[in-house]
Amino acid sequence: MKPAVACLLIAIAASAGASPVSFTRQIAPILVDQCLECHRAEKAKGSYRLDTVEELLRPGDSGEPPLVAGRPGEGEWMRLLLTHDEDDRMPKKADPLPEAQLGLLRAWIAEGATFDVQNRQAPLAGLVERPLRAPVPDRYPRPIPVTALALNGDGKVLATSGYHEVLAWNPEDGKVRARIADLPERILGLSFVAGGPLLAVAGGSPGRSGEVWLVDLARAGERRRLASLRDCALCAVTSPDGRYLVVGGADNRVRGFALPEGRPLWDMEAHADWVLALAVSPDGRHVASASRDRTAKVFDVATGSVEGTFTGHPVPVLSLAFTPDGSGLASGGSDGEVRLWDLQGTAKKEGSLRPLGRHEVRVLGYLDPATLVAGAADGGWLGLDLKTRTPGTRFTAHGDCLTALLLRPQSKGVLLISASHDGEVRLTDDKGVERRRWVASPGW
Ligand code: HEC
Repeated sequence: MKPAVACLLIAIAASAGASPVSFTRQIAPILVDQCLECHRAEKAKGSYRLDTVEELLRPGDSGEPPLVAGRPGEGEWMRLLLTHDEDDRMPKKADPLPEAQLGLLRAWIAEGATFDVQNRQAPLAGLVERPLRAPVPDRYPRPIPVTALALNGDGKVLATSGYHEVLAWNPEDGKVRARIADLPERILGLSFVAGGPLLAVAGGSPGRSGEVWLVDLARAGERRRLASLRDCALCAVTSPDGRYLVVGGADNRVRGFALPEGRPLWDMEAHADWVLALAVSPDGRHVASASRDRTAKVFDVATGSVEGTFTGHPVPVLSLAFTPDGSGLASGGSDGEVRLWDLQGTAKKEGSLRPLGRHEVRVLGYLDPATLVAGAADGGWLGLDLKTRTPGTRFTAHGDCLTALLLRPQSKGVLLISASHDGEVRLTDDKGVERRRWVASPGW
């Protein structure tokens, strides 16, 4: 080590000595941000895991102890963090840790490497305190696009994306019931777990970070972070039985989590470009992904193994829907084409439609087995009779690009909840009669 660096580390260690370094508050966040990506259950480089306290103390392939309490000069951690050999240094293929973080680690080990945690098997990601974020304004200066929607089991809470927050609305009157703040800047995926009150939230800051959270709406503000990513999480779905959460991201990956605890199950570089949309099959056993790489894929939701790859769209795939019986899949492209795929047997294309002209197909859903609903970038949306291939119900066009669509069967018919880039949310029945509309931004 260069003498100057050594001095600095000693200085930081000494200054940190005033109050002991806390594993939970100061060390775990470093590990979660810098190391977890390569050292966890699904991906344990060097057979070494850092996702729980119990695991991080267990040696990897080298057989050498990762940490020696009281001796920061020993142990694999400090050796690999400080080595000048770039091929060996951790975090691998990245810049060395900043001096301040190295100082904290060193001081914490020197102080005896104590773990201020109750459960040594609990995921570190869940321990990490959330960073303080900007307070959200009471009234938004202007409406913001609605980028995600979720309706709870009894239909009384409609969750929408806000700025650094999730907004919970009463669909009966379009009034805010609750605001759940301290969440990622952009919320791009929302899905209730088995009807709620647990809500999966995915989002981030483009190009900088992605986050996946489980928020308990019954206990306002109580939440757990399931993952920290290098780029935005773009979409999220839960299986109807509440056992699985699947998240797609701008890192081209699709990740599966076991619910309700939120344990990571699988993680795949499934696509060659952003994963833009996800849909889960009605029986909850399969999940489909749509990507800017021009393909759609279907996975086994429990294992992440690929069951089918659908190539043929000459453009990015933006939207997806399973048929109500799960035997088929519709995918919508940025050129206006909707492709219908047969999922039984040979996974071949069944047909191709162009219900919205050349406008990007942003949202898709099945009203019933014979009627597909498609919504476009120009705000237009319609029900399409699949037998006659002609437009059926025409819904009143939104004033801006469609961003989200939910279909909820009612005692009579189906309720459609649609959202658009101008911040509007609408409730419409399956005959096209609008029941309510409002701008889902506080103060508008
Ligand atoms: C981008 C992937 C990546 C990241 C990030 C990463 N590692 Fe590693 N780590 C590896 C690989 C690969 C190995 C296997 C040895 C090798 O190839 O050098 C390894 C091995 C190790 C080992 C040796 C285990 C043993 O006993 O053999 C330790 C300890 C370790 N890493 C700690 C860390 C720490 C601490 C961080 C965060 C500061 C970190 N790693 C971040 C990829 C990574």
